[in-house]
Amino acid sequence: MAEDSTAHPADGTHAGSLDPLDLLYEEAGPPGFGLPAALATAYGGDLGFIPPCVYANFVTSLDGVVALGPEYPSSGSAISGREPADRFVMGLLRACADTILIGAGTLRATPRHLWTPDHVCPQAAPDFAELRRSLGRATRPQLVVVTASGDLPTEHPALQSGALVATTPVGASRLEGRLPPTCAILTTVEGSALRMADVLAALRVQGHTLVLTEGGPRLIGYLLGEGLLDELFLTASPVLAGRADTPRPGVVSGLELLPNQPVWTDLISARRRNSHLFLRYRLRTPRGRPALAN
Ligand SMILES: NC(=O)c1ccc[n+]([C@@H]2O[C@H](COP(=O)([O-])OP(=O)(O)OC[C@H]3O[C@@H](n4cnc5c(N)ncnc54)[C@H](OP(=O)(O)O)[C@@H]3O)[C@@H](O)[C@H]2O)c1
Repeated sequence: MAEDSTAHPADGTHAGSLDPLDLLYEEAGPPGFGLPAALATAYGGDLGFIPPCVYANFVTSLDGVVALGPEYPSSGSAISGREPADRFVMGLLRACADTILIGAGTLRATPRHLWTPDHVCPQAAPDFAELRRSLGRATRPQLVVVTASGDLPTEHPALQSGALVATTPVGASRLEGRLPPTCAILTTVEGSALRMADVLAALRVQGHTLVLTEGGPRLIGYLLGEGLLDELFLTASPVLAGRADTPRPGVVSGLELLPNQPVWTDLISARRRNSHLFLRYRLRTPRGRPALAN
């Protein structure tokens, strides 16, 4: 989920300083990584994934808004109310991932953000690092930015820190000589949109099988259209966002599902901190199904 980069003052140096989430429901037998004790306490239990897995994380208002419109950058922060528990879950999900996949719209909307676990929850940084060591992960997840146009703010700190840019040949030529040397380009076949299956296959070759996507909504539309999303972590923030003239998308954009192509889910777990709900769903439709009509 997109968040502003302004760091919260750390109120401790450990995830143990966070108030634990209340576990409301968890289905039997979810795979667990064996989280370090401080993380397991703060999360209200263990967390794990069976690779390969593509999981999304979003914060939504009660009326289904995840982005407030172009004039409001960092929508996620406004929608979550900068809830520390949301930032902790965001950091924990990042800490589990090989790769964090975002669309260019999300990068452009959050000019100072870094897609690392520590950036959103610095007080749990040592615990996130311990988790990544125990899982044999690199120090930080690899950021992958998807763009058809190649219209990227190349001075963005997340690009300066190093990222893989997945783009079209048109996008690649637009970016030629503009990206920092820390970045690499992955080019897919000619066309106005990238086949996300090709991007994921290229990541798989690098051994990246646990992919977290923090959207945004259009990227989720592409992933769903190809049947590539396995799980959705949704934070329901206790706020009403409203809609007037500016489009305010929900989790999925650019793809209609109901009534003809519903994507049903099953609840894996539900947690709570005060009035924020932390919901984890598994998509029922199996990976690799025939692509939906966009
Ligand atoms: N509440 C939350 O948790 C949350 C999470 C994430 C984002 N957001 C918000 O969502 C808003 C951005 O929404 P968005 O839907 O525009 O974001 P997005 O999905 O991140 O970006 C869309 C752009 O990504 C590129 N893209 C994505 N999939 C592609 C594909 N398969 N092939 C080619 N290009 C692809 C295109 O870039 P080009 O235009 O460069 O070609 C496209 O215009 C922001 O306000 C952000 O803050 C909220």
